[in-house]
Amino acid sequence: MKIKLDSLFPGCFKQMRPETMPATPMKPKKAEPAPAAKQASSFHHRRISASDFSSSALSEDLSISLAGSNIHAFTLQELRVITQSFSSANFIGEGGFGPVHKGFIDDRLRPGLKAQPVAVKLLDLDGSQGHREWLTEVIFLGQLRHPHLVKLIGYCCEEEHRLLVYEYMPRGSLENQLFRRYSASLPWSTRMKIALGAAKGLAFLHEAEKPVIFRDFKGSNILLDSDYNAKLSDFGLAKDGPEGDDTHVSTRVMGTQGYAAPEYIMTGHLTPASDVYSFGIVLLELLTGRRAIDKTRSHREQNLADWARPQLKDARKLRRIIDPRLEGMYSEEGAQAAALLAYDCLSHRSKSRPTMSAVVNTLEPLKDYKDVSMATFVYTAPSAQKEAKKEGGRDQAAAGEDEPKETEKGNDDRHGRHRQDHQQKHKVVRPNQSHLHHQVRSI
Ligand SMILES: Nc1ncnc2c1ncn2[C@@H]1O[C@H](COP(=O)(O)OP(=O)(O)O)[C@@H](O)[C@H]1O
Ligand SMILES: [Mg+2]
Repeated sequence: MKIKLDSLFPGCFKQMRPETMPATPMKPKKAEPAPAAKQASSFHHRRISASDFSSSALSEDLSISLAGSNIHAFTLQELRVITQSFSSANFIGEGGFGPVHKGFIDDRLRPGLKAQPVAVKLLDLDGSQGHREWLTEVIFLGQLRHPHLVKLIGYCCEEEHRLLVYEYMPRGSLENQLFRRYSASLPWSTRMKIALGAAKGLAFLHEAEKPVIFRDFKGSNILLDSDYNAKLSDFGLAKDGPEGDDTHVSTRVMGTQGYAAPEYIMTGHLTPASDVYSFGIVLLELLTGRRAIDKTRSHREQNLADWARPQLKDARKLRRIIDPRLEGMYSEEGAQAAALLAYDCLSHRSKSRPTMSAVVNTLEPLKDYKDVSMATFVYTAPSAQKEAKKEGGRDQAAAGEDEPKETEKGNDDRHGRHRQDHQQKHKVVRPNQSHLHHQVRSI
């Protein structure tokens, strides 16, 4: 049975200009094995891949279309009501894709759709990649469900308008939480919890029956709920992983500078190990409180991986690069283990990097390490205070008042390092925009 794409997205394709039509797939799909119902959290049926959608017709059964995945198609008018006409009071952020507004769905809007706050992302149509990324996001997130992936509630595709509606994540992105200037810094245990949650999200994608490479793993794409549970968002650059005997997929180089794996930038060969490298960068950001690329620093320190990696295996050197905003309140044993893990994730030999499930196993115990580094705390706090510190997420700020503080000198550039070019935060490795761009190549 042939199913037209426009039958799944009525109204989407009427106004589409030819150049915004999805490209044809790079290579024909191989015959696929029968689905095994092993992923409890994904759908029972086989996931439709993005390249299936990029052809003009589908040969899969309609039951595996998004119609079965509980994704709601909203009208623009409904989203106007939800966001109070995209009022500036509801504005929560702006990404490479376009502005994001908070909204509220009440229980009368749709049967089966519960009252809840949502985040509504509006596609900025100036971006040439815009429609393609929107479609990729709907296809992947519409079909994948996991506690560590942000939930897509619906989309709007009306004439030239493209929007996405997500569950609302009250603590915003990891990038905001980690690099915000005027607030208590994230406690060590919270950082490890976030790393673990994000690692579980990636491991789920890599180990799905039909593996997915996320390709744009970075702090701004890790969203946090009220308990700092991490969820991956932004599947616009996600790609179906290699299947069968293939070791990689070949694709033009896209992603974000500072996070993309060196071999992917050099060759365009994308593997799950490319995500592992990006994960290593985010782990380094959590350890050091520094951004992947920071042009405000001295030349030697601008690229986080180049600067930090040689210092990760030596406990004494490591102590000097740990985020000074932690004020010594971290587990030394935990930090050493996390640093070794980052070192391995950042290996230049992609095959030497751990898999994401190995990363999950290494991180699992680290979130419970609560010993405080003795290196920077020469005075032991009274035991009652120590106990108090172990409780709750906001322990550090409360306990910090009475503690003797001794931060490492020389590392604390907390004002300078946050000043950053907006562009740098977003997807900079785009076609025709960067020397990193490679033509689409075949294997
Ligand atoms: N589901 C959501 N809940 C809460 N805030 C969100 C959500 N999605 C996005 N945001 C906020 O909007 C900002 C812009 O999002 P996005 O378009 O993904 O851009 P980017 O990833 O380039 O920062 C994010 O950094 C985040 O602070
Ligand atoms: Mg994002």
